Amino acid sequence: MSVVDNLNWTTILLAIGVVFIISRVNNFANGLKAVDYLAGPRVPFPLVSLPGVLLPTSWWNPGVFYVWRWRNHFYKTWGSETIAFVPWASGKPNIVTTNLEVARQVTLGGHKSSWGKPRDKTRAHLIFGMNLVSAEGELWRKHRRVVGPAFTNDLYQLVWQETYRFYNEMIEAEGWSTQDSFAVPAVQGLTFKLAVLVMGNCGFGFTFDWLEPPTTLDGSMSIQQAFHKFTKWHMLDVFFPKWVSKLPIPEFWRYQVAFNKLKDFMHAQITERRHSIQGGSPLRNDVFTMLVKANEDEEAKFRLDDEELIGNIFVMFIAGHETTAHTLAAAVGLLAVHDEIQDEVHEEIMSVIGHRDPLLSDFTKLENVVSIFYEAVRMFPAGFLIVRRTSEDTILQLPSPVGQQGTTSLPVQKGTDIIVDIVGIQNNPRYFDEHEKFKPQRWRGISNESELLSTFSIASGPRACIGRKFATLESVCFLTSLLRDWKVEPVLKLGETMEEWKKRVLDAKFVITLAVKDVPVRFVRRKSRKHRSM
Ligand code: HEM
Ligand SMILES: *[C@@H]1O[C@H](CO)[C@@H](O)[C@H](O)[C@H]1NC(C)=O
Repeated sequence: MSVVDNLNWTTILLAIGVVFIISRVNNFANGLKAVDYLAGPRVPFPLVSLPGVLLPTSWWNPGVFYVWRWRNHFYKTWGSETIAFVPWASGKPNIVTTNLEVARQVTLGGHKSSWGKPRDKTRAHLIFGMNLVSAEGELWRKHRRVVGPAFTNDLYQLVWQETYRFYNEMIEAEGWSTQDSFAVPAVQGLTFKLAVLVMGNCGFGFTFDWLEPPTTLDGSMSIQQAFHKFTKWHMLDVFFPKWVSKLPIPEFWRYQVAFNKLKDFMHAQITERRHSIQGGSPLRNDVFTMLVKANEDEEAKFRLDDEELIGNIFVMFIAGHETTAHTLAAAVGLLAVHDEIQDEVHEEIMSVIGHRDPLLSDFTKLENVVSIFYEAVRMFPAGFLIVRRTSEDTILQLPSPVGQQGTTSLPVQKGTDIIVDIVGIQNNPRYFDEHEKFKPQRWRGISNESELLSTFSIASGPRACIGRKFATLESVCFLTSLLRDWKVEPVLKLGETMEEWKKRVLDAKFVITLAVKDVPVRFVRRKSRKHRSM
């Protein structure tokens, strides 16, 4: 009796096993076909998948983090700038490219191209409402029509002026105005605060200062506090399904209170701004006000609703503050170990602005500062992947390896994702010599429309970063002020050499963006600085 039972069970298990294996083999075979057998690693899971990302990067599971870890040799070993990761355990294949020509083909097409943003990869940005980052096709066009005009010269003026004000407030408030040097365990503490404040004031139209009152008089949550709670916890909603942040955990609960407070506040603000616009009162130049204005100026059928306006302001916060803060931190870290570059840029700053306040009109003359920002974002590109999916069978043209003419055609099946590996492009020897070195001068004389600057997505592409100039101006103004007054030095651990510091600090970590590790530095006052009265 039991012998028969055992036999049956064994047979059933075997059958299940066989069916499973066949289905996996089938999945794998389909995957290979979808990318026309393009060479590349055969892996268990897709790159951008939960197991792919949670399991450590190793030869059998590169995850997405290989793009950093193996940036110096990986594509060389495959002998190709465009490869395919085909998974056998689950999921669909990914084509990954480090070639600008291929990146153009998938990003330049516009809203009618077959290459679009995959829906399941943009859910994260929908916390408050539909927005420019998440929208696709005609809907995206509608959003860009209204959001584009909000980025005016007046906004840039405000960004510059507020950044400089925050720099001065920081030096005063932190008590550094009377010191000849000060050290910070992680410069991110400063760059994050700056980026949040600039985004708060120039994005949302708040009027925050470096030092804020900790509570309101009646003990309820002030809008500043709500904003900071949101800043601290919004990642929950980005990473997890919405119900997670609703769990009965006190900190989560306070986040919900903050979230709702902000939302109500924004709705009230839209009404207020509409009144100001209709009443012809003078307007502030923050993105929010300009957005409401651009929307009012639109014909009714092109207008966004209030949810969408709010969605766009919040998505700018999410897309704009971390990226800028991390890039600034990377720039400071890289400068700390390059005295000669600091001296050179200090000279430029002194000759352009000397001891007066930096002005927006100085921006185009501060070429060395701009180059430092571009080089920092090249080496630590915060937005390190661009993902596109094809909605129909299509063909990519792959350029031949360096030194060879022509292209090869790669047929790609409908529904396949391509990942543009920005770290890979920015470290591709085809475009950058000595790519592992910090060489800001490589950007001298290169137009800011050059496609080499792909860290904000292909510059001429319809979906290139709308906040690029915002981020550039904020960073250049901050670096200009900082580097005029201070010299940056690495803070070494006991017995640590400069080389060891570089290895420890100038490495990447992944939050949702790519970021430099915590940067411990000391700022030493430049002797040439006159004491200014503030
Ligand atoms: C160093 C800082 C920044 C970096 C590296 C960066 C990078 C990028 C990249 C790579 C994209 C293209 C994403 C894709 O196509 O999948 C993008 C898009 C975008 N960025 Fe930025 N960004 C930065 C700062 C900002 C700032 C400050 C703002 C807002 C003020 C912003 C708002 C946006 C928006 C709204 C989009 C979507 C544009 C569209 O799809 O039409 N970014 N950014
Ligand atoms: C590019 O350079 C031009 C001319 O110098 C300048 O007006 C423009 O603002 C720059 N764009 C960005 C995004 O920095």
